[in-house]
Amino acid sequence: MEVIIKESPLEGSLLAARIIARAVRKDPETVLGLATGSTPLILYQELIRLHREEQLDFSRVVTFNLDEYVGLPPEHPASYHSFMKRNLFDHINVAPERINIPDGMAKDIRGFCREYEKKIIAAGGIDIQILGIGLDGHIGFNEPTSSLTSRTRIKTLTAQTLQENAAYFGGLANAPRHVITMGIGTILDSRMCLLLAFGERKAEIVAQAVEGPLMALVPASALQLHPDAKFIIDQAAAACLSKRSYYQYVYDHKPDWQLD
Ligand code: F6R
Repeated sequence: MEVIIKESPLEGSLLAARIIARAVRKDPETVLGLATGSTPLILYQELIRLHREEQLDFSRVVTFNLDEYVGLPPEHPASYHSFMKRNLFDHINVAPERINIPDGMAKDIRGFCREYEKKIIAAGGIDIQILGIGLDGHIGFNEPTSSLTSRTRIKTLTAQTLQENAAYFGGLANAPRHVITMGIGTILDSRMCLLLAFGERKAEIVAQAVEGPLMALVPASALQLHPDAKFIIDQAAAACLSKRSYYQYVYDHKPDWQLD
């Protein structure tokens, strides 16, 4: 696990965008795992800029989103389908048939989840998985106590996550309680995981995920098992890390062959 502490969310997001851009330039058929939420917004803006100004070509890229609300039609403004269109897909040249987002309206949810897993494998597996982290340590919507080997499935949101999401639905009463999410096992199968976390609200949970015990109660701690997981965080989100200066030292003294 590599902890990269940048000055600001902008700097962290630019680094993540550079890693993705380099992968896509090297392999135009790169398979990207994508997240929603507020954290990747600057990253997506930078990917759009790279497409517009530096001809970053997404036409052969394949994408798989982590999650979607159950029972929410794709055109609902708070659905993750809408989020992705608004914040990324409408502004780059990704081919619609190469975009994959869980179908929250699927009649046979179990069957759908099985097929989603098969589609990821058929695409050659996810090369780079973008992740945010919930205040309770969730990645995707794998809430605390999710199995560390879980696959794509339906999950029930915790009261804390529901509360976090309520504003997008005009209050708690209308907020969906169930989601389809890639599992922790699905995420761990990605070749590289880039977890972004910014701001002091995330400081405590980042420290638990990076330096705490590996446990289902903190799903993001599962990334300790991953051979190429990078936590890209800002100074505020690094505040509770006991080995903060060590991570900074390692990053600042990386030999050329190990950069990024
Ligand atoms: C979203 C997702 C979630 C978010 C997490 C953090 O697709 O998988 O795990 O990454 O809830 O959300 P923000 O970025 O809004 O703090």
